[in-house]
Amino acid sequence: MAVAREELESYWMPFTANRDFKKSPRIITGAKGHHYTTEGGEKLYDMFSGLWTSGVGHCHPKIVEAVQKQVAELDYAIGFQVSNDKSFELARRVSELAPDGFSHAFFTNSGSESVDTALKIALAYHRSKGEGTRTRLIGRERGYHGVNFGGISVGGIVPNRVAFSANLIPGVDHIRTTIDLENTAFSRGQPEWGMHLADDLERLCTLHGGANIAAVIVEPVAGSTGIIAPPVGYLERLREICDRHGILLIFDEVITGFGRVGAAFAAERFNVQPDIITTAKGLTNGVIPMGAVLVQDHIYDAFMHGPEGAIELFHGYTYSGHPVAAAAGLATMDIYQEEGSFDQARELEGPFEEMLHSFADHPKVIDVRNYGLMGGIELAAREGAPGARGLEVHKRCYWEEKFMIRNAMDVICFSPFLNSKLEDWEPVFERLRHVIDTME
Ligand SMILES: Cc1ncc(COP(=O)(O)O)c(C=O)c1O
Repeated sequence: MAVAREELESYWMPFTANRDFKKSPRIITGAKGHHYTTEGGEKLYDMFSGLWTSGVGHCHPKIVEAVQKQVAELDYAIGFQVSNDKSFELARRVSELAPDGFSHAFFTNSGSESVDTALKIALAYHRSKGEGTRTRLIGRERGYHGVNFGGISVGGIVPNRVAFSANLIPGVDHIRTTIDLENTAFSRGQPEWGMHLADDLERLCTLHGGANIAAVIVEPVAGSTGIIAPPVGYLERLREICDRHGILLIFDEVITGFGRVGAAFAAERFNVQPDIITTAKGLTNGVIPMGAVLVQDHIYDAFMHGPEGAIELFHGYTYSGHPVAAAAGLATMDIYQEEGSFDQARELEGPFEEMLHSFADHPKVIDVRNYGLMGGIELAAREGAPGARGLEVHKRCYWEEKFMIRNAMDVICFSPFLNSKLEDWEPVFERLRHVIDTME
């Protein structure tokens, strides 16, 4: 149904230029498979899988059915000191997908909540082990870890932090980003250059004392900042330094989890074992909000002492393990298994890389980056107006070319479906080239 223009005002939209949007609203009213339907009844091809969420396509009949059934059977059950059947089953299914040793999942409602939960678990873990001095948290420049106070503090996206600068949580430091166009531009997959940047963590251990650091959090492949794959050997080196100093390594896999990098988790794909993995998005294919924090057994076990009747972690959400979200998650896990979604994604990587890198010699393009089914084409910024070209591409693709992409400033970002059809991509990239060719 079309939204009356006088209806637009009340909604303060997230991460949106509200005034600009309300002059030319882009409103979706339906979705099926790989397409959205707009309020004007037009079909748009979704080249972003929702917001990195909907890898197996929109309104997948199995998930729709599972949600409909669950909501009629058990809409909600209290989750503290009592729980519902579906949440246990989903925790087990997710742990089975995770790397060995991750047998426990703590449920949240979003990626931001997963991140803040993971940071709290890391701090409480050290305390429970008698290492209460480990209070420092380390993030990375350009990292995105959601929008809650913990997440923006360890995050490194400047506009998300500036207004809150004096109130970010204390005791946080950042290692450097691994992107440096002089050395990494047009890398296919992991850049060869940049492993040494992991040593920035060693520098912070020297500065603060490694024994004071609780955890390091990174996205294995950074997404929201505009796709940055880890340099070859970089994640391995981070792991080594964490081991040397007893620091927990957290992989924020809110985007990279559940097939986006051609495996269940980036930890598996890169063969680097973190201590904690944060997830959301693909956990339910985006259908019902839900996140999960997966922890290695030694972390869960560290909490399981003291009187049996005592709560071990004073943390949780009203909707942790929500039965309808869990039902969506279970159906999603079934689909991943039955359709072989992670293998499908792996097979699409090669052609995706080729199509992206066909833009490498375009005069307006200064970098092309990709890993798995995450891709970015960075345009040179327009003189005095960084981000303007990116936004224009997003809007023209929506209005004129009828497909959905996102821009991170001047990086045009792609997050195609795990079960995409190659023949759908060709016209998308052709039309994108037309937009880039014909813009100022
Ligand atoms: C790596 C990462 N962490 C955390 C988040 C926050 O997730 P949410 O928007 O569900 O709170 C995101 C969202 O894109 C993300 O990409």
